[in-house]
Amino acid sequence: MVENIANINWYPGHMKKTKENLIRSLKLVDAVVEILDARIPRSSANPDINETINNKKKIVLLNKSDLADDIQTKKWIDFFKQQGILALKVDCKTGKGIKNFYNSIQNYLKDIKDKWNQKGQTGRKLKLMVVGIPNVGKSSFINKVSKNSKAKAENKPGVTKQNQWYNVNNNLELLDTPGLLWPKLENKEVSVNLSFVGSIRDEIMDTEELAVQLLETLKNNYLNKIALRYNLDINAMKGLAGYEMLEEIAKSRKFIIAGGNLDLSRAGNILINEYRSGKLGKITLEQV
Ligand code: G4P
Repeated sequence: MVENIANINWYPGHMKKTKENLIRSLKLVDAVVEILDARIPRSSANPDINETINNKKKIVLLNKSDLADDIQTKKWIDFFKQQGILALKVDCKTGKGIKNFYNSIQNYLKDIKDKWNQKGQTGRKLKLMVVGIPNVGKSSFINKVSKNSKAKAENKPGVTKQNQWYNVNNNLELLDTPGLLWPKLENKEVSVNLSFVGSIRDEIMDTEELAVQLLETLKNNYLNKIALRYNLDINAMKGLAGYEMLEEIAKSRKFIIAGGNLDLSRAGNILINEYRSGKLGKITLEQV
């Protein structure tokens, strides 16, 4: 179920408490897995996470990579790599990339294991905390990783009730984030991007307006995909504003209402839904 991020009551008190819980729980883990939406890696990030996890090692998962532009995803992976962060693309709906995640962390976190080995703690399990704003696919990820291991949420002594541990196998345990993480909603671009991908429900903005904005965003890099999907002449589309493009889509699909006017609301709805479901193709909205 898509949660309506905009309706979650993220008041300062909640944010402070979640941060405190996070900091406390960080002491229990060796590294952090941050899940981002590969289509909007900036907008789907929690703005405070890096400062909160401080110097813990981080693994970034670019999830929903089945819906994102592979070339852009590769650029994002390189971008994180330059900062010494392991980034991997995954599709937690099908489980694609999960095996690679499991293999890649063994090497990435080798220094931690080496230290343990030197201390004679050879069988010690890696403990990772999974963080992400609502709807990035945190539950899907935990489900996929734990799939073959009869993972159960465990309550451990000395740990607050909201800390959910998942026993993946003999080498790995996952801790779910204590509390809901927020996106940078006060930033207009962030909330619009979250609306495009469907993480904020549409009532935040009129669908027609949202569709026009999406077309404005897509026209620079993905005009060919729009032309292809809606049977439009790409050359005639060049130079059109988002609103005019939506009119062309309505005309092409013959969305006409009584009086002969174009049904832009219907065209907008179709465009947004087809973008979200990947029918327009693999598209990334935020470039490195
Ligand atoms: P959360 O715990 O972070 O809130 O996210 P959750 O796993 O519930 O996933 C949110 C939505 O995103 C779900 O869709 C889920 O199926 C979808 N999803 C997760 N990972 C991927 C992915 O890699 N690719 C694609 N295409 N979708 C993904 P939903 O429509 O809300 O629910 P459902 O109908 O799938 O059950």
